[in-house]
Amino acid sequence: KPPLRIGIAGLGTVGAGVMKLLRENAALIRARAGRELVVTAVSARDRTRDRGVDLAGVAWCDTPEELATHPNVDVVAELIGGAEGAARLTVTRALENRRPVVTANKALIAIHGAELACTAQAAGVPLMFEAAVAGGIPAIKTVREGLAADRILKIGGILNGTCNYILSVMHETGRDFAEILADAQKLGYAEADPSTDVDGIDTAHKLAILAGLAFGRPVVFASVYIEGIRRIGALDLQFARKMGYRIKLLGIARQHENGIEARVHPCLVPQDASIAQVNGVFNAVVAEGAFVGRLMLEGRGAGEGPTATAVCADLIDIARGAAIPVWGCDADSLTQAVALPAKSF
Ligand code: NDP
Ligand code: HSE
Repeated sequence: KPPLRIGIAGLGTVGAGVMKLLRENAALIRARAGRELVVTAVSARDRTRDRGVDLAGVAWCDTPEELATHPNVDVVAELIGGAEGAARLTVTRALENRRPVVTANKALIAIHGAELACTAQAAGVPLMFEAAVAGGIPAIKTVREGLAADRILKIGGILNGTCNYILSVMHETGRDFAEILADAQKLGYAEADPSTDVDGIDTAHKLAILAGLAFGRPVVFASVYIEGIRRIGALDLQFARKMGYRIKLLGIARQHENGIEARVHPCLVPQDASIAQVNGVFNAVVAEGAFVGRLMLEGRGAGEGPTATAVCADLIDIARGAAIPVWGCDADSLTQAVALPAKSF
């Protein structure tokens, strides 16, 4: 088979990580994908910045839109971020031009996922977003493939590495919130606008995506209840510890007879519960199925390496020509569902 030619839009933490992983593991990936995966074009804002990756022989596109329609690009990896602007345009253009898309952009998928899935379906190409939920944890594959036969009753967990890192370090050291957030930014965990993390919005994006897949139709993002961790202070953590609890920011979605409950807020969890042991940048995806029972996957939820692994897994699926459902099971599943108002749960 000829090589799969990849165009990467966005060369920050994740984009540069994908280039490094594709090069370092080239032989292994070629063997598993059945063909070579090569980056042929890239795009970012600043052409002069050193990104720690060799761009010799790779075409530089001045706009992500140019990259989306580049003649030497078979598949587009959108790693810019944000629900609107360059990211949305890149993905839309690529799909309209019948190019498969891989994205790590949870904001984009949570808000415009249903519409983009329709565009992908019309074009007959896949839209993949494994890296959009819980970094290195194969959460999307688990829900779509591993739990395909079961009725999922509940899904969620610790879905933001930055918040879990902040709460864990505050809990263990009593250090200041702002100082720990600055560390999370340096480590490449936080979003470009970190209020997206600390105000619970990023967790809600991921929860909406998971709930949409688990319950069979995309959830209207604006209907998710959201509360972040900004107001949690050292005293709250001290009291929690004294009472035998830890504080975690959780995303929780449940299927009820009258609709979907979807909420994000800080929770007290018993110190000996398995989810209380998930600390630092680690995430936990918890699902409960009627047949499988409770399942918990734990792993690094943010950062270059884990996120690049998830992006490359999607690229390998495309290279293999794997059959990938556009959203859940069928076209009907693209009708969006509104989550129940917070007062009803
Ligand atoms: P960064 O901010 O590190 O990188 C963003 C990249 O996009 C930069 O290379 C930037 O260019 C480029 N860019 C921004 N705006 C434009 C534009 N208008 N036109 C062209 N290029 C643009 O973000 P991350 O790599 O951390 O995140 C990328 C995506 O992955 C986001 O959707 C994020 O939510 C998601 N994600 C991130 C994770 C992480 O741990 N960091 C984990 C999981 C998902 P330049 O470098 O020139 O400024
Ligand atoms: N900012 C996100 C987090 C990146 O901290 O979890 C991974 O999605």
